[in-house]
Amino acid sequence: MTTFPPDIFERWRTLVLSARSERFRAERDLTFWQGKAADYDQSQPALPNTLAWLHGQLKGSRSLLEVGAGTGRLLLSLAGAVPHVTALDYSPDMLAQLRAKNPPEHVQTVCCALEHALEHAPPHDTVLAAWSLAYQPDLHAALHTLHALSRRDLYLLEDDGIGSPHVQLRRALAGTPKPARASLLREAVQALGWTFAAHTITEERELSFASTTELLAYCRLPLPEQEILAHLQPHLTRAGNGWGYRWTFDVHVLHIGHQGKA
Ligand SMILES: C[S@@+](CC[C@H](N)C(=O)[O-])C[C@H]1O[C@@H](n2cnc3c(N)ncnc32)[C@H](O)[C@@H]1O
Repeated sequence: MTTFPPDIFERWRTLVLSARSERFRAERDLTFWQGKAADYDQSQPALPNTLAWLHGQLKGSRSLLEVGAGTGRLLLSLAGAVPHVTALDYSPDMLAQLRAKNPPEHVQTVCCALEHALEHAPPHDTVLAAWSLAYQPDLHAALHTLHALSRRDLYLLEDDGIGSPHVQLRRALAGTPKPARASLLREAVQALGWTFAAHTITEERELSFASTTELLAYCRLPLPEQEILAHLQPHLTRAGNGWGYRWTFDVHVLHIGHQGKA
């Protein structure tokens, strides 16, 4: 009997279902986002290069929908470029954070799950899904829904789990490397035979700490101080008694076009 390796959608499902947090259960993921809403923005790095790139892509687009828009940290920066903007998310608290920023009148919010998005939002010229597919067991269905919602362009933003040096080290020590979701998404889109272009946008993050104690408390690494400092050394600069800590990371964008010109 011939056995075939699991296809990309099966591998994605296996990855999602292996999460110990069980956030593949929608009610679990929703509870997570409800609890996270208030401090989500401050926990996220700024993405100026990604936003500038997306802004350039919106030329000529009449409408923009973000699926899994959250607090609107990306969408609201892009809203000025498009006459009609929709933020869709299933977390009422994440959307409440977005509305608390007093968005312009042409920005509307829709509270529903991606799975029901076609019933609650019309197709838009441009659709964006940024870090919102991570716990979707049925990636095939999710991608088809996003594609059906977009008249012109669909942008999927993800990373390959290579972020800050201290978190990478923490995960390596615990034996829990972050999944390379951006690469898996790319494989999935390839498997669907859609026309797409892949872009990598590099961002930078810089934090400062008044003392070594503050830096070590932030990094939460189960290693002696000297080992931590040696590991982070390429990213550290002395600033008085404290430290500047700087690293770069990549945002992966898949641009799926409807006119064979992504
Ligand atoms: C990591 S946050 C990203 C938010 C925003 N895209 C950003 O980059 O800041 C993921 C968001 O997707 C939403 N989300 C996750 N699964 C969803 C689903 N099935 N339907 C609707 N929203 C979903 C969550 O509620 C959360 O607000």
